[in-house]
Amino acid sequence: MFSQPYLDLPPLKSASGSVALPGSKSISNRVLLLAALSEGQTWVHDLLDSDDTQVMLNALEQLGCHLIKEQHSVRITGLGGSLKNTAELTLFLGNAGTAMRPLCAALSLLGANVSMTGVQRMYERPIKDLVSALEQIGARIEYLQEPGFPPLRLQRSNIKINGPIRVRGDVSSQFLTALLLALPLVSQDSDIHIEVVGELISKPYIEITLNLLAQFGVQVQRDEWRTFTITKGSKYISPGAIHIESDASSASYFIAAAALSEGTEVLKIQGIGAHSIQGDIRFVEAARLMGAQITMGPQHLEIKANQRQLRGIDLDCNHIPDAAMTLVMMALFAKGETHLRNIGSWRVKETDRISAMAKECRKLGAVVEEGPDWLRIQPIEASQWRAASVHTYDDHRMAMCFSLAAFNPNAQTIRIEDPRCVGKTFPNYFETLFNLVQTQGDVIPVICIDGPTASGKGTLASKVAERLGFHYLDSGALYRLSAFLATEHGIELALTQESAIVDLVSKLSLRFEGPLIFIDDREISQLIRSEEVGMNASKVSAMPMLRAALIDLQRSFKCLPGLVADGRDMASVIFPGSKLKIYLTADALTRAKRRHKQLISMGITANIDNLYEDLKARDERDMTRLVAPLKPAADALLLDNSDLSIEQSVEWVLNWWQSKNIA
Ligand code: DC
Repeated sequence: MFSQPYLDLPPLKSASGSVALPGSKSISNRVLLLAALSEGQTWVHDLLDSDDTQVMLNALEQLGCHLIKEQHSVRITGLGGSLKNTAELTLFLGNAGTAMRPLCAALSLLGANVSMTGVQRMYERPIKDLVSALEQIGARIEYLQEPGFPPLRLQRSNIKINGPIRVRGDVSSQFLTALLLALPLVSQDSDIHIEVVGELISKPYIEITLNLLAQFGVQVQRDEWRTFTITKGSKYISPGAIHIESDASSASYFIAAAALSEGTEVLKIQGIGAHSIQGDIRFVEAARLMGAQITMGPQHLEIKANQRQLRGIDLDCNHIPDAAMTLVMMALFAKGETHLRNIGSWRVKETDRISAMAKECRKLGAVVEEGPDWLRIQPIEASQWRAASVHTYDDHRMAMCFSLAAFNPNAQTIRIEDPRCVGKTFPNYFETLFNLVQTQGDVIPVICIDGPTASGKGTLASKVAERLGFHYLDSGALYRLSAFLATEHGIELALTQESAIVDLVSKLSLRFEGPLIFIDDREISQLIRSEEVGMNASKVSAMPMLRAALIDLQRSFKCLPGLVADGRDMASVIFPGSKLKIYLTADALTRAKRRHKQLISMGITANIDNLYEDLKARDERDMTRLVAPLKPAADALLLDNSDLSIEQSVEWVLNWWQSKNIA
């Protein structure tokens, strides 16, 4: 199974260029629910594709909504105010508060018979204030474990509205959002009044809710932030199609990355700007207070590199609860201390973010004080930054925030644990970042793996790459495809034809997508795997001009966050400075048995004795050939895997790698 325990970020220097970010999580999940409650069809364009939207989509499908997906769009046929599926259901909602809370409200009003479950952290996130508000109007909601927390079971009930519905606003604004999104369902007979008890937090998120309700035909009267009135007879009317703007909270990491950059370059963020309806767009103001230079267009942002100019601030961050986490990271680079206040809601988010931020910043060398609803951060002096392994608490924002520590001026490597937790809102976060950044010098790590034929180096290299989140170069494939194409073009595989082969290969448009290889859009990954192509590859790989012609292409695979390269001269010619070089071997008989098993499983008859003799002869040829002979690089570590499983070999390599990196 795919698992990536950590991602090491080499020291980064700057971020520049242009980027379009994925859709807003808050808007996506609200729109999905509104489309589901409306009658008729809604095209939702540029929908965020992430864990939180996926659980919402799954739930809606279970409830009987018809969904058609097309790339970044989904067409939803709404329920039109009544449930199609009345059977008893269990909806799994992961750790998505934006799914749990509004669905709880809508489904209890629709009289659904459902259980609502999620991951363990979801069971630690309060929902009592919403449940109490719904109970005032007759909803029947049972706590299945801890009172006040999910999981929940909703039961059919008689909803009656006799007066204002009171809801607390000072724990999570999602309770009020949930009521606002759902109550139009039961507004046939009278106006519905919602009264907020306590000071309403995160008001901009309520503005998003009101804005989207209006786009779906529901007008809500607002009296200050105290009373909200849904007009009698309100009905959800699909706008037909709706476009989701880019996520403003996600933009904060790129704004910060650009502001923390050295140099004079500019980063442009497309798809979000002054016209945004998201509260976190006001992160721009906070970042400017710290000294960031940001130009805002209606639908784009431009940020200038500014690392040495940032200054500490004292700010009430109630209006930007999510993006304010990014200010903590900027504060580590600023001059003077930063005091972020009124952030109590952080304690009930994906994790207790106040304590998590403080703890992990201290690992980097920072002095951080925390209070019940505040953080005070002292910047880290350039020479005091430490390499650290940052725990991310299954919280996407922790992982994204701490990636910014890689811009530290002390050139320390930063390890992000469980980096794939970014999938909650931004599955390609790291890939997007890597496409924009420049490193502090030649710091992209390379691991080279070589060894005799059938030693299992390809399997080992690709698995190590998967575990580390690194790119993978199968250099043998380049010789295989050269041989394959030469044969296809009728070129004889003789040294006299070398320049014709080089000419042919240099003109190709090659593309690598994971394990797939394309030549001019033709997929040839399997075609080059035959024994015959392997034999021919062995011939062309002895051609010095061809080897030289492939050098730049092979080096171009060295991209962030790192590369695992397998093949003959990786450690000596292509990446002589690589951090870890491994020579993988196994005795010839073991290799013959493995090859035999492999061939049999492919339905090819084979004889072990013949294979054994062949392998020994091939080893001899490979080791004695003049051009790029098979031999361990001088500084390679020897790994004999005769008695090791693939997993054990992978662990060996990862342990060696670990010992060369952060302890
Ligand atoms: O690893 P493989 O079987 O796919 O390699 C095909 C041929 O290319 C094999 O004869 C080894 C040779 N080769 C090479 O000379 N240099 C490399 N870097 C990789 C492979």
